[in-house]
Amino acid sequence: MRKKLIAANWKMYKTPEETRAFFRDFLPLVSGHDRDEIVVCPPYIDLTAAVEVTKNSNVAVGAQNVHWKNEGAFTGEISALMLLSVGVTHVIVGHSERRQYFGETDDTVNLRLKAALESGLTPICCVGEVLEEREAGLTDDVLRRQCVRAFHAISAKKAAKLVVAYEPVWAIGTGKTATPEIVAEAHAVIRREATEVFGEDFAAQLRILYGGSVKPENASALMEKEEIDGALVGGASLDAKSFAAIVKY
Ligand code: 13P
Repeated sequence: MRKKLIAANWKMYKTPEETRAFFRDFLPLVSGHDRDEIVVCPPYIDLTAAVEVTKNSNVAVGAQNVHWKNEGAFTGEISALMLLSVGVTHVIVGHSERRQYFGETDDTVNLRLKAALESGLTPICCVGEVLEEREAGLTDDVLRRQCVRAFHAISAKKAAKLVVAYEPVWAIGTGKTATPEIVAEAHAVIRREATEVFGEDFAAQLRILYGGSVKPENASALMEKEEIDGALVGGASLDAKSFAAIVKY
């Protein structure tokens, strides 16, 4: 049995003060919940506050990106060592918004993923097709390409902590959720690819999350599918009650 992981991606929302206020409301709502792993990924500026207030709780803190070098002249970037130094344990890599708006490529996703794994962080590596690709029947090809390139030159041993998130771009922030059947199909493609690259045992324990307009109303239909190992939640994770309802689907 793979333990499900329910992760919040706050994107560019909330100040440190708002972060503290969120956890004041959220932690009591999920206290004692150990069926699933819970992770919240706020903006960099909020990480210290988030780590501080979640200490000794059942909630882990993740970042939304990581650079592949430990340090250097890379204005605006943050390294894995820096994240570890403030108590961060998880990191999102290759989110479609990074790919769409900030020039992230399959190759830089691979570098970031390697750096995260190398450092001991748990990476949540995002893949997913855009609407035109789905309509052109290219979904499987896109997922396969993104996985092969992201996993390039990483051993199964190094990849032990890897988590993948399937986030169809057409479902992100649009209110259009992929049906559990669409998700299960995409997850099967990803798991097959992981089998090719890392082997069967690895692929059998790999957690593949779904992201894209997950809400309290649709969480249980998605999470009850055996093939869906959790969720990466954007908009609906910004409100404590709504994210708690998703966690407790
Ligand atoms: P929404 O839940 O707002 O659609 O965002 C999904 C997402 O991009 C999570 O990383």
